[in-house]
Amino acid sequence: MATPIFLRNSPLCTLHTHHHYHHPLTRPFSALPFSTAKTRCHSVNSTKMEGSEITEVVNVNAGKKIFVAGATGNTGKRIVEQLLAKGFAVKAGVRNLDKAKTTFSGNNPALQFVKADVTEGSAKLAEAIGEDSDAVICATGFQPSWDLLAPWKVDNFGTVNLVEACSKLGVNRFILISSILVNGAAMGQLLNPAYIFLNVFGLTLVAKLQAEQYIRKSGINYTIIRPGGLRNDPPMGNIVMEPEDTLSEGTISRDQVAEVAVEALIHPESFYKVVEIVSRSEAPKRSFEDLFGSIKQQVTFALEFRYGKESDTSYLLISS
Ligand SMILES: NC(=O)c1ccc[n+]([C@@H]2O[C@H](COP(=O)([O-])OP(=O)(O)OC[C@H]3O[C@@H](n4cnc5c(N)ncnc54)[C@H](OP(=O)(O)O)[C@@H]3O)[C@@H](O)[C@H]2O)c1
Repeated sequence: MATPIFLRNSPLCTLHTHHHYHHPLTRPFSALPFSTAKTRCHSVNSTKMEGSEITEVVNVNAGKKIFVAGATGNTGKRIVEQLLAKGFAVKAGVRNLDKAKTTFSGNNPALQFVKADVTEGSAKLAEAIGEDSDAVICATGFQPSWDLLAPWKVDNFGTVNLVEACSKLGVNRFILISSILVNGAAMGQLLNPAYIFLNVFGLTLVAKLQAEQYIRKSGINYTIIRPGGLRNDPPMGNIVMEPEDTLSEGTISRDQVAEVAVEALIHPESFYKVVEIVSRSEAPKRSFEDLFGSIKQQVTFALEFRYGKESDTSYLLISS
């Protein structure tokens, strides 16, 4: 007997509109409420006098709440600060509330702290992220300890837990801070000292790659940012952005990594992309539209075939 075939998220219906592709259980994410071409401006609602002209300055990011995992980390705190500066509300996911209060001085009403340990499972994380978050930025990284599985628990399963929590809540925008060289083995970089060094600590890069692969198959609207070696000092050059599995050396200021993460929220050119970033003093300064726009988009469509009661999901990767 012929059995029906259901095509879920079939490219037939989404191929030409892949910017708007979304998992059936999630809310579509639009960059437009964050910023429109007409009002790409991030300051607080105000009226500005320019000569005799009066320009209405609208805070297009107001009301959008971003959950940041690993908010007390060196990159996480910069992401929080830059989000607030651009008018977003922030829910800072932290392991330690006291540390959070000392990390962020002042009493910003747009900043809220919630306890969130990514190893504690997706149900707890969904409670922490809550119905009111519009997007999640993950800036976690395992902290060295006696637990040799910590990188695997935090950088792989922890990130997967966050994405699962997003699916439960219908949050359809996810930005991950990963690392260059995560796919070093496939790049022929097995003997790159950085690849060896980082993998000595519990296969950190392999753990991150596993999480990336989960995100890409999940159907969530992602931007995976893979920075080179992180520096705490202010930017010394301009951002260089390359496609996945391209860069095998270089460094970048954490300020610029945070900037790329926040700008990814604002620019739809970053949707469904993996970008590698470093900074170089000789590189030209480019706009974020141009940087993100120069990277190919990749969309993974889940095709579900049902044969009677049996079902099988396969994935199709399409680049444009
Ligand atoms: N270091 C580099 O050169 C380099 C290069 C490329 C990519 N990266 C990656 O970039 C990311 C950010 O790096 P970073 O140096 O800025 O990070 P970091 O300062 O080490 O901060 C990591 C954050 O993750 C949090 N965290 C750890 N375990 C957690 C858990 N179980 N649940 C929730 N949060 C947890 C930490 O919380 P606490 O604040 O409570 O400790 C901390 O806030 C990391 O993924 C890192 O691997 C680093």
